[in-house]
Amino acid sequence: MKTTKIFHTMKENKEAIAMMTAYDYPSAKLTEEAGIDMILVGDSVGMTVLGYDSTVPVTMDDMVLHTKAVRRGAPDTFTVTDLPFMAYHISEQETMKHAARLLQEAGAQAVKLEGAGDVIPQISRLTGAGVPVMAHLGLTPQSVGVLGGYKVQGKGRKEAEQLILDAKAIEEAGAFSLVLECVPKQLTAIISKELSIPVIGIGAGKEADGQVLVYHDVIGYGSEHLPKFVKPYANVQETISRAISQYVTEVKEVRFPEDRHTFTMKEEELNHLYG
Ligand code: KIV
Ligand code: NA
Repeated sequence: MKTTKIFHTMKENKEAIAMMTAYDYPSAKLTEEAGIDMILVGDSVGMTVLGYDSTVPVTMDDMVLHTKAVRRGAPDTFTVTDLPFMAYHISEQETMKHAARLLQEAGAQAVKLEGAGDVIPQISRLTGAGVPVMAHLGLTPQSVGVLGGYKVQGKGRKEAEQLILDAKAIEEAGAFSLVLECVPKQLTAIISKELSIPVIGIGAGKEADGQVLVYHDVIGYGSEHLPKFVKPYANVQETISRAISQYVTEVKEVRFPEDRHTFTMKEEELNHLYG
């Protein structure tokens, strides 16, 4: 069984960690085959796959369903699943139950949650109960309503100091890793150096111990507006659109199916059929 130790070792050896989201069987399969170090079943599934305009509507049932599909596609890759909005704020008991569902029912190896402050005791309790926890600071999309949009965090001195304190508290509470989203690269450098746990950046510069990106952004599938920090490595949506248009045209012009896509029966059987 793969454990969080791999990622500590990678940080010690200064070996960059490549992480990416996946949401279903095919995305997980291709991601594993490409040699990704860690898969995140992100609650970004709400936006990339389910069509919501934020991650807030995503439920525990959504996360369980998608994690199960990912595990079937990538049985050999360490998989982290996001605890969705409000799944770790109501009570310690509910937090534990939700984490247990993700590990036992869905097959994740770790959970991810956003923020520090009130969340710190939850990180300790989960870790104490044997649940590896990945934390997430900077731009925390579940708090988009409070943050007032998707913007760079920690640009000012006071905000940056708080982020450093939060990052240290997270490590102290027992988290095995930290995602830093949309922060200046200088802050990433400080936090990655200060912490012994690996820091995985998204929009945080190459100073992090690893990088994470959203599957759909990497392959250029379905995203209209790409944030500055995304590098699309392909344009899959163009390929898909072209394929679907061609199919529609060929059906309408009765050019598909061709003979080679078609089954036939023997002449003599046919004669019987007509009596
Ligand atoms: O849900 C997600 O995809 C994430 C990453 C952007 C870190 O939390
Ligand atoms: Na997320």
